[in-house]
Amino acid sequence: MTPQESIFAPTTIGGVHVKNRVLRAATDESMGDANGFPTAQLTALYERLAKGEVGAIITGYIAVAEKGKSTFPGMCTLEADEKIPAYRTLTDAVHQYDTPIIAQIAHCGAQGATKYGKVCALKEVEIHTIIRQFIEAAKRASKAGFDGVELHCAHGYLLSEFLSPKKNKRCDKWGGSAENRFLIVGEIIRGIKAVLPQFPVWVKLNGTEKNGVTEDLAAEYATLMEQAGADAIEVSCGLSEDVFMFARGSVPFDMICHDYPVVKNVPKPLMKLMKPLVNRLLEPPAPKRLYNVSAAERIKAKVHVPVIVVGGIHDLPEIESVINEHGLDAVSLCRPLILEPTLVQKYKSGKQTEAKCIECNYCMIGISQRPLRCYYGKLPKD
Ligand SMILES: Cc1cc2nc3c(=O)[nH]c(=O)nc-3n(C[C@H](O)[C@H](O)[C@H](O)COP(=O)(O)O)c2cc1C
Repeated sequence: MTPQESIFAPTTIGGVHVKNRVLRAATDESMGDANGFPTAQLTALYERLAKGEVGAIITGYIAVAEKGKSTFPGMCTLEADEKIPAYRTLTDAVHQYDTPIIAQIAHCGAQGATKYGKVCALKEVEIHTIIRQFIEAAKRASKAGFDGVELHCAHGYLLSEFLSPKKNKRCDKWGGSAENRFLIVGEIIRGIKAVLPQFPVWVKLNGTEKNGVTEDLAAEYATLMEQAGADAIEVSCGLSEDVFMFARGSVPFDMICHDYPVVKNVPKPLMKLMKPLVNRLLEPPAPKRLYNVSAAERIKAKVHVPVIVVGGIHDLPEIESVINEHGLDAVSLCRPLILEPTLVQKYKSGKQTEAKCIECNYCMIGISQRPLRCYYGKLPKD
């Protein structure tokens, strides 16, 4: 097998039989109904991705509890058994193509809680409730036919807040040292493994973030995750408040003006003046491609479980370099697959070597108002 053929050959990653090493990264589709049930529109999207031969699908984040939902509309939830049949329909549809599907489970923490009032430190009893909610959500995911779960420990959501030395100011057993900050994640992983020993548990964590987790600390967390029983680690970076950090590219200023209620009413001439300033403030640093590879390599050197890297890995030569030269186990792609759900098939067949995504980042703003789609740098009509 040539190195390129080995990228597109079936293999096992973190207990999941993947079709190849190019995975669909978790992408908030905003396609849940008002009660958090997955819709036919979401199933159709996953079928397109499965037909397009992605190695596996990681779903957009699914809330483990009503209070863990994001402020964006259309987030799916997995907080009740009555949801299991709806998710079963979805996993059955994907499995028709022999494509595995992993449920990314999340709690949005302070980034969702603003909807419910003042943000404050969780009480001990609330922490235990959330741990239980994650474990229950994993049990439901297993019953619904998912091939595993991925804990969303990145991008500043609740578990990432616990891991961050900047955000976690707790003086009890849940803060103060790396082991303490990790405790909630450890309890969730161990809790899932206690009831479902064979069910794969992946973790997405930040390799770096502004004034928070560093590559060294991330490597320490990854070791603790492996010891707790995690089956694979996916490496990302950045916090939701620094949005264009984890999905680097252009700052979608015009789309922000179009979609965000707070800026909608600002007079146009003022916005024109503000544009260069906002662009400079939100502009992510270089590089805009392969920006998590160094953290992923650092983690790979410390753990035995597979390491997946996400973030600006879009063209075929980039995928090849990450796997063949940097020795990482798999890549995951988000934005390129929004525009081209069949991209992996195109790479595999040699039809194409570059993604058409222009990294305009309009998709990230658009999900605050309507279901996920690619805007290709053009403002929507609505
Ligand atoms: C529209 C959009 C939605 C996203 N939703 C999620 C999500 O639900 N969970 C998650 O872990 N990351 C999410 N991300 C981050 C991606 O998984 C990925 O880490 C990031 O976009 C970098 O990868 P890329 O360069 O392939 O886009 C989202 C990104 C975008 C652009």
